[in-house]
Amino acid sequence: MKRIRKAIFPVAGLGTRFLPATKAMPKEMLPVVDRPVIQHVVDEAREAGIEHFIFVTGRNKSVIEDHFDRQVELEDTLRERGKTLEIDLLERDLPGPGATSFTRQQSPLGLGHAVWCARELVGREPFALLLPDVLVQHNPGCLAQMIEAYGALKPPANVVAVEEVPPERIHMYGVVGVGKTSGKTFAITEMVEKPKREAAPSNLIITGRYLLQPEILDILADQQTGSGGEIQLTDALIRLAKTQPIHGLKFSGRSFDCGSKVGFLAANVAYALARADIAPAFRAEVKHLLDES
Ligand code: UTP
Repeated sequence: MKRIRKAIFPVAGLGTRFLPATKAMPKEMLPVVDRPVIQHVVDEAREAGIEHFIFVTGRNKSVIEDHFDRQVELEDTLRERGKTLEIDLLERDLPGPGATSFTRQQSPLGLGHAVWCARELVGREPFALLLPDVLVQHNPGCLAQMIEAYGALKPPANVVAVEEVPPERIHMYGVVGVGKTSGKTFAITEMVEKPKREAAPSNLIITGRYLLQPEILDILADQQTGSGGEIQLTDALIRLAKTQPIHGLKFSGRSFDCGSKVGFLAANVAYALARADIAPAFRAEVKHLLDES
């Protein structure tokens, strides 16, 4: 099985659910505790062994590119002030030289279109796709779990991360049909975008992490539009399933949709409570607020 070396991070969406915070600042740069959401997701990819990080950006997103670069004046000032801990912290978060690529999606025509915009950078090899507004809290990370499961599959294989949601929320997501299980994965028999509760094939939703074969890029090249007039990734996956197997992996961990206000706030609470340096003080503050409310 060909190794997964590259990952796409589509960051060209408008983030309308988070206006006005996202008017001038990309939602991917909103902090969860003290690091931008995108940094958490890039770390998940790095820990899974990804070597090249491809960002599909749009207007107003250049700050993401700056975040993954050195800030020479800042580093000089920190050095003058003897703040070595802070310098190390900045250093640790940087992907290596030449390990990032940035391309533009000039118009937000949909997630499928954003993925297709990275085709030249991906080339003809399997790749990971991580939606940067979804955080999964777990060690090992969601992508590492997927890559491990992928290694046990017969090529060519595609893997989609899935998780259970309560029936009353099923109509908001892409839902999969469950076929035969083999090892940690199962065969996906169908994919339905935002089904009615009674029509949903299961309670398992697609979570925002994918391992895909390059043939998906050929399908996306057709530029077929789907619901909302957007070029949808799920539509392309449905077409890909006719020629290649797509497997589901029920990952371990808890996901947060940081593109929604409640999901973002919950992520901040969960990640703060997992941090030994701030958890005791933060827990006391939260308890105080809950007692008062
Ligand atoms: P979302 O639909 O969650 O993101 O897309 P959005 O459009 O930015 O958010 P809202 O709904 O308006 O609040 C999932 C991911 O796909 C990217 C987004 O940046 C997000 O990470 N995306 C979506 C693109 O890169 N381009 C698109 O045309 C659409």
